[in-house]
Amino acid sequence: MDDRTPENRWFHLCTTDDLAGPNAFVTTRVGAVPLVAQTIKGRVVAFRNVCTHRFAVIHGEPSGCGPLRCPYHGWSFDADGVPVGLPFNPTDFQLEAEGRRRLALHPASLARCGRLVFVRVALDGPSLEEELGTDLFARLAALSENFPHRGDALEPAEDWERIEVANLRLHLAPGGAALVLHSAAPPGADRRFSRTATRHPAIADAELPV
Ligand code: FES
Repeated sequence: MDDRTPENRWFHLCTTDDLAGPNAFVTTRVGAVPLVAQTIKGRVVAFRNVCTHRFAVIHGEPSGCGPLRCPYHGWSFDADGVPVGLPFNPTDFQLEAEGRRRLALHPASLARCGRLVFVRVALDGPSLEEELGTDLFARLAALSENFPHRGDALEPAEDWERIEVANLRLHLAPGGAALVLHSAAPPGADRRFSRTATRHPAIADAELPV
């Protein structure tokens, strides 16, 4: 039995294409900790989704596109988590560079396995590959790379291969015709944070199932 706390385990969050656009973000919750992964100026970074000013949740939606900006007093944060845009700073906060650095967001762990993106609350601990094992890590990476197209939802059938890892369940259609990914919401997260996607192999668009 896995006796580690949820904060010490890796959880599948999304795929790399979910974070491909400028300012694209995906959020989840692990235990009591809200997390966000976001693309900022070409970097994909992960933080606790909690403002360091008065601890408001920054992004309230499960996914979207928009600057990493707290809705409460409007602080915005850069790719290092440092608040860089503070409305009314000269009168209300008077924070210089060092004070801002001290108020950087708390980072979270982020790892990729092919096109799959995983997050973990704890910064220290085994790598994702160590946690999954080399063989499973390589299989997941190859599977995710072999199904680059997001497509219309398919319902897995009885004869599809099923692979379970962390909060992720993969269903592989016979002959590699499709791959369905289902991420269960981590412990502490509500169902808004569960995600299902159907992906198709790298074939000409005209051949994709309709
Ligand atoms: S609580 Fe986030 S800017 Fe004040």
